[in-house]
Amino acid sequence: MDALPIIAGLLFEASLSMPSPSLSFMLNQLTGLLIGLLFLHRIITYNAALNRLAHSLKIGRAVSQLPARLHAPWTRTFATTRTIFKAESAPPPTQSISPLAPIGVNAALRASSDPKFIPRPKIFDEFSLKDRVGIVTGGNRGLGLEMALALCEAGARAIYCLDIASEPSEEWRSTQEYVKRMENGSRLVYVNTDVRDQKGMWEKVKDIGDKEGRMDVCVACAGIVKQPSDCLELPAEDFKEVLDVNLNGVLFTAQAAGRQMVRFGNPGSIVLVSSIAGSVALRGDLVIAYNTSKSGLLQMARSMACELGSKNIRVNTLSPGYILTPLVAAYMGTNTHVIDRWSGMNPMGRIGRPDELRGVITWLASDASSFCTGSDILVSGGHQSW
Ligand SMILES: NC(=O)c1ccc[n+]([C@@H]2O[C@H](COP(=O)([O-])OP(=O)(O)OC[C@H]3O[C@@H](n4cnc5c(N)ncnc54)[C@H](O)[C@@H]3O)[C@@H](O)[C@H]2O)c1
Repeated sequence: MDALPIIAGLLFEASLSMPSPSLSFMLNQLTGLLIGLLFLHRIITYNAALNRLAHSLKIGRAVSQLPARLHAPWTRTFATTRTIFKAESAPPPTQSISPLAPIGVNAALRASSDPKFIPRPKIFDEFSLKDRVGIVTGGNRGLGLEMALALCEAGARAIYCLDIASEPSEEWRSTQEYVKRMENGSRLVYVNTDVRDQKGMWEKVKDIGDKEGRMDVCVACAGIVKQPSDCLELPAEDFKEVLDVNLNGVLFTAQAAGRQMVRFGNPGSIVLVSSIAGSVALRGDLVIAYNTSKSGLLQMARSMACELGSKNIRVNTLSPGYILTPLVAAYMGTNTHVIDRWSGMNPMGRIGRPDELRGVITWLASDASSFCTGSDILVSGGHQSW
């Protein structure tokens, strides 16, 4: 359409230089036709634009005639957007609700305007679990016991270790004694429980709530692994057994603790112990049930985090890499050379130690991670980076 005026102009010019009047007449007629077409096109285009304008005016009127109840949110949305983008508007409140507040830069600003305000380091206080109460399943040994001790060292009033072993291990008893001798007011308590028993879990954790009057921390750590098996041959029973402990048991644990957190209305932190096997299949280890269960935990934590966020209950997964514990020792049996294979699978060139989870579990359990939920925290020597 844009070329039409040019073509019409060329035709008109050609008609002037035609030797025959009839040929010149024909060219003039053609030029007229093209000009007519051009006008018609313009009229149609303007008409469409006018129609669009009329339509939007009608919508505008319809919106303004909506009942106030429906109309108001629109107005609010626009107002909010404007506020956000207004350069001169004040920043949103950023002050922590922690009893330690003011903390961070706010504390520095307070100190600069208030000569009586004494600056002091608070970062480690933010990791404190003073007076908090928690449960750790699988807390009789291995990673569970290590993390339970860390929570006691961070000042928890009481950490309950829930485990299927009818009697606590020697290792557990020594750790309990150690906690007593720390004299920081913390207690390590043993409770014989099977995480697969939903009713039992709910009842036992409710008893803890009744006794302590609060519930703040839950570490769902009990887990099992079966001997390696080809995925096409794995017996149904083996698959179900692993899912029963690693997936059902973790859900029942998180439910039991979450119910008490809601009951007492205090903020809570639930940590589901997954694994690097939740994100990647363990190379060279034929443990499809284990991998599947750990992957399920990642989604379980995200789902719970979404449902419980409004109640100020945070749910995250902690995913360790290979760490030598009784579970791993039983899995490898006499094949100790697998430690070399596992060590070669991460950039740090070694497997981890149970005590290397102390910092991360204290962070996740405490207010230092108050904005962290629905996340998977990997502590693996970088296993997943390759
Ligand atoms: N060790 C590792 O390399 C590693 C790596 C990643 C993740 N994990 C996970 O960490 C968790 C702890 O592993 P670990 O290496 O300390 O194992 P572990 O075998 O030393 O400890 C597991 C504990 O869970 C308990 N338990 C098992 N079934 C139970 C049940 N039905 N009810 C209650 N308690 C039960 C056991 O009695 C044991 O005390 C597991 O979930 C495991 O999958 C371990």
